[in-house]
Amino acid sequence: MAESTNTIKHVASPLARQTLQDSNLTRPVAGVQPIRLLPWLQVVKIGGRSIMDRGAEAILPIVDELRRLLPEHRLLILTGAGIRARHLYGVGLDLGLPVGSLAPLAASEAGQNGHILASLLAPEGVSYVEHPTIASQLAIHLAAARAVVGSAFPPYHHHEFPNSRIPTHRADTGAFLLADALGAAGLTIVEDVDGVYTADPKGPNGAQAELLRETSAAELAKQEGSLPFDRALLDVMATARHLERVQVVNGLVPGRLTAALRGEHVGTIVRTGAHAG
Ligand SMILES: Nc1ncnc2c1ncn2[C@@H]1O[C@H](COP(=O)(O)OP(=O)(O)OP(=O)(O)O)[C@@H](O)[C@H]1O
Ligand SMILES: [Mg+2]
Repeated sequence: MAESTNTIKHVASPLARQTLQDSNLTRPVAGVQPIRLLPWLQVVKIGGRSIMDRGAEAILPIVDELRRLLPEHRLLILTGAGIRARHLYGVGLDLGLPVGSLAPLAASEAGQNGHILASLLAPEGVSYVEHPTIASQLAIHLAAARAVVGSAFPPYHHHEFPNSRIPTHRADTGAFLLADALGAAGLTIVEDVDGVYTADPKGPNGAQAELLRETSAAELAKQEGSLPFDRALLDVMATARHLERVQVVNGLVPGRLTAALRGEHVGTIVRTGAHAG
């Protein structure tokens, strides 16, 4: 009895003798490159506002394109929130709801868009799966079907950082965190513009806006003004482990998503902080 208690008390761990707060001490153990869990996976984020809110006119061609991509790729399709979340932010902010209360509500709107997309791809065996299923059973779902659909929002919920009244970690950040954690082959962000411009091409100075064919998260962090994705995406790109780039493409132009998944440069490539190796 005394011996077994003794053994339990002396669990061998390379981190047993030091604080986890000192990165110099943890680095020999925690500094190694993580494995790629699903290296063959392609993650596609479909814009809520830019694609889903446009209805059949934009959704049906994208669904058709996704359907034709299935024999070629295994996909995790993640949807953004769009107009209903913006309405929800308006009502919630007016009522004084904290950011952590707004985050899960907006995430559920992103989920609704996912349900719509999954319904249209159901004949191909595609279904909508919730966050816990993505976290623990994605592999079995992708063994049964060529693609699954989920909400692109990260599950920060009441843990959302209170540095803004609108959640800062939204669909693009969530899609990237997931793709990088899974060690996916790529992430393609589908928008209604040709890529990232020097300024909003639909804004007041849109005529002067220039398309950036290739850029980096570090360069974009220096660019003031709006982007076609969450600014928090730049922060998580800086510390990426696997994904070296993402491509932002125009989903309203037939064939762009297909070309991007085939490795062609058809939108804006944004390099992250990750390096091969
Ligand atoms: N620097 C920029 N380059 C390109 N587009 C920009 C830029 N700044 C703003 N935009 C605008 O961003 C719009 C896309 O909006 P947004 O990213 O909110 O949509 P979405 O990705 O569909 O939404 P969601 O995140 O809810 O899925 C484009 O139509 C474009 O007008
Ligand atoms: Mg966007």
